[in-house]
Amino acid sequence: MIKLISELEYEQEEQEEANDGEPVFAPQKKVVVPLYQRFFYSKLYNNLKLSRLFDNNWLLNLFTLGMHNKLVEACAEEVETHTTVLQLGATFGNQLAEVAEKVGYYGRLYVMDVNRTQLNRIEEKYETLYPQMNFVRQNAEEPTGNKFDTVICYMLLHELPIASKIKVVENALNSLNENGKAVFIDYSQPTYWHPLRYIVRMFNRLYQPFAEKMWDRTIDTFTSHSLDYIWHRRCYFGGMYQKVVATKRPKMFDDD
Ligand SMILES: C[S@@+](CC[C@H](N)C(=O)[O-])C[C@H]1O[C@@H](n2cnc3c(N)ncnc32)[C@H](O)[C@@H]1O
Repeated sequence: MIKLISELEYEQEEQEEANDGEPVFAPQKKVVVPLYQRFFYSKLYNNLKLSRLFDNNWLLNLFTLGMHNKLVEACAEEVETHTTVLQLGATFGNQLAEVAEKVGYYGRLYVMDVNRTQLNRIEEKYETLYPQMNFVRQNAEEPTGNKFDTVICYMLLHELPIASKIKVVENALNSLNENGKAVFIDYSQPTYWHPLRYIVRMFNRLYQPFAEKMWDRTIDTFTSHSLDYIWHRRCYFGGMYQKVVATKRPKMFDDD
């Protein structure tokens, strides 16, 4: 059946009105779990019992010598109430709850994860507590097709090989609205005198092969458009962790 352009425009307007400005994610045909996850992280992320064991604030604070709480706080303080937030990758502990609290009931928090077990775990944990939280099964390397006030990438980049790091950082930046900000919290290079420096390096070399790249490069080098953004970096715990916030640089002149 042939449709007139005016009919198509009308349908599109109707669709937009129905969505009421809410982000809409295209249904994914088939979500393939990336190879790096299958090789290095599937024992943890595909195992619900083990994941539930790690999903414990007390334990996370013990492993990180109290830094877990500090990083969760540093992340939540970047989020404004009643805004639309996208988080790339689910997390253990109270990190998502803190962001959801900050977003509030009139805001929206979308959590995107490629792993079905992890997405089901957080959906079960949070769906009744936080109606503002939404769950999207998608690879964070794929374009989101929406714009957000804040995009959070919490302890995700160190798990990814360099090509995926670049795609995820580019994707986070491309998903920002004009006044939006991208918040990256992850490992970075500890100072030379840090007593845990060599222990962490040994652990990374054995179990987290892509984490050491976070020591060699700053996050702004994972995009070819770094000059279009203003980057703020803050280090924690002798440089072991970092928070990087990127906001769009105001344009000095129009594109055309
Ligand atoms: C965000 S990291 C955080 C883990 C960390 N140990 C924590 O809780 O602080 C782990 C999550 O990211 C997800 N993930 C890894 N690669 C992804 C990708 N390319 N796209 C979406 N989610 C991904 C994993 O499935 C997992 O649920």
